[in-house]
Amino acid sequence: MTIRAVVRGVGHYLPERVVENAEFEATLDTSDAWIRSRSGIERRHLAAEGETTSQLAIKAAEAALADAGLTPEDIDAVIVGTSTPDFTFPSVATMVQAGLNMRNGFAFDVQAVCAGFVFALANANGMILSGQAKRVMVIGAETFSRIMDWTDRGTCVLFGDGAGALILEAQDGTGSTEDRGILATDLNSDGRYRELLYVDGGVSTNGQSGHLRMQGNQVFKHAVQKLAETAHHALEKVGLSGGDVDWIVPHQANLRIISATAERMQVPMERVVVTVQDHGNTSAASIPLALSVGKQRGQIKPGDLLVTEAIGGGLAWGAVVLRW
Ligand code: ACO
Repeated sequence: MTIRAVVRGVGHYLPERVVENAEFEATLDTSDAWIRSRSGIERRHLAAEGETTSQLAIKAAEAALADAGLTPEDIDAVIVGTSTPDFTFPSVATMVQAGLNMRNGFAFDVQAVCAGFVFALANANGMILSGQAKRVMVIGAETFSRIMDWTDRGTCVLFGDGAGALILEAQDGTGSTEDRGILATDLNSDGRYRELLYVDGGVSTNGQSGHLRMQGNQVFKHAVQKLAETAHHALEKVGLSGGDVDWIVPHQANLRIISATAERMQVPMERVVVTVQDHGNTSAASIPLALSVGKQRGQIKPGDLLVTEAIGGGLAWGAVVLRW
């Protein structure tokens, strides 16, 4: 008998305010046509004044609990992937725990920027396989609008706010790749690339939250190569390849990165869940948002083989293979 971390429920929350590309034309030297053609983004949701990452995360968590038919007491652990916490501490995860009125279990944040959800998912899988938890809520939640430089057209048009949550549950499997649940994970980072994507502020440097700085075209090149590679490695660990994949659920940063990665994996775009047009880049929230929307659209069905892959600041990147 093999223990598997199986998806029991999924949910998401997006802030009410929707900002269309055209709105940026009033304040920046940019256009809807440029943003669409270079990134695939058409609109994004932005958090209201005073609306925080933990508030988005709590709403996504509630939606995932409803989808799973579970109550907060059924959850042993909450892991939140985020780089835009409400406070330096406590963690967003403990704020979610309090917001759900949970008195049990443990909670902590994982910080791997846009790869945060993949890193959190791999962590949750490890905890379930080692018997430390039976049910883990894994959340990606971000308010990147708070760290945008709204005068930098190269970054501020690309990002959005949102949250998605997945509940993983320990179930018995057979050990084959026909099992439902997480089948393989692959995590990577290389701190030498810090200057390509970073925030120019922080607790122990200048005491400010800072603004996101990115060399977009450099990140782009690393993204296409490293995402295809990590997805391939994760699949290879369990003897699978692109041809076995029903859905790639990629980090939603740029449609051109998504399609170039799919091409390298020899997976047609009909088998890729794409939400970047409506959400923009929501960093660690983008994959759970895409999983939830993909399920709602009727794309992702029980038994489907999924690969999620993401890259973010660090650089940090990775992939998870799971059967839904
Ligand atoms: N409107 C109009 N023109 C613009 C805009 C804009 N919003 N932004 C940049 N430009 C201009 C640039 O100034 C440049 O002009 P120049 O040639 O006169 O210097 C030109 O467009 C081309 O710029 P590039 O950066 O080379 O354009 P590129 O085709 O690479 O697209 C983009 C830019 C969309 C940022 C792309 O590089 C990208 O998506 N990169 C990856 C981003 C990413 O995936 N980040 C990963 C994770 S994020 C995280 O971890 C937090």
